[in-house]
Amino acid sequence: MRIGILGSGVVGPALAHGLARHGHEVRIGTRQTGLEGLSTGTPQEVAGEAELVVLAVRGDAAVQVVSGLTAELDGKVLVDSTNPLGSDGLYVGTIDSLGEQVQRAVPGARVVKAYNTVGNALMVDPDLPGGPPTMFIAGDDPAAKATVTGLLEETGWDVADLGGIEASRWLEAMCMAWVAYGRASGGWGHAFKLLRSS
Ligand SMILES: NC(=O)c1ccc[n+]([C@@H]2O[C@H](COP(=O)([O-])OP(=O)(O)OC[C@H]3O[C@@H](n4cnc5c(N)ncnc54)[C@H](OP(=O)(O)O)[C@@H]3O)[C@@H](O)[C@H]2O)c1
Repeated sequence: MRIGILGSGVVGPALAHGLARHGHEVRIGTRQTGLEGLSTGTPQEVAGEAELVVLAVRGDAAVQVVSGLTAELDGKVLVDSTNPLGSDGLYVGTIDSLGEQVQRAVPGARVVKAYNTVGNALMVDPDLPGGPPTMFIAGDDPAAKATVTGLLEETGWDVADLGGIEASRWLEAMCMAWVAYGRASGGWGHAFKLLRSS
């Protein structure tokens, strides 16, 4: 698949290298130039040519970034990996979420919240003693969620669909549980797993 990733922090390159290993054609849309070992372009170029776009920018830039790409993102699957993480915790939550704000900013895009409940080192091919961890996703478009589920399953994840994009409220809160466990345990190699009776 032709995948465009917006943002060249740590999540962008981690996903780019990992998804390229699976044969996907990946390019990073960034304001930076000269990023070694990565195929890059402007956010407009990369979002415009991609079949699936991953949003991996700072939470406080997410709405602004997608708002400038409404034409490029129209009809596209937009995977939102962002968290509204400030120095005091989440700055959006409970009755709204960054996932919903992103969807409202680009109503033509098919937003699927994913990747926000795990650290970048485990985003592709997580290899943990307990077996495949669970990626929790949310979004309003069933076909978009099926596409993202396929990509996740191909790259080592069990997938749990929490429903419409408003479930991003709980996915973004889960990010804080992931961070709290990291602080308490002093390590960052953990991921959630959902156990089911059937
Ligand atoms: N770090 C993790 O392990 C992790 C795990 C799960 C979810 N997340 C979420 O994933 C997102 C990316 O996290 P990160 O750790 O890779 O890096 P980050 O430091 O949160 O964000 C860096 C990226 O944000 C973009 N950015 C910052 N200000 C911008 C602005 N004003 N306009 C446009 N772009 C702007 C930059 O894009 P340019 O490339 O254009 O400079 C840069 O690549 C965040 O929302 C974070 O909460 C992170």
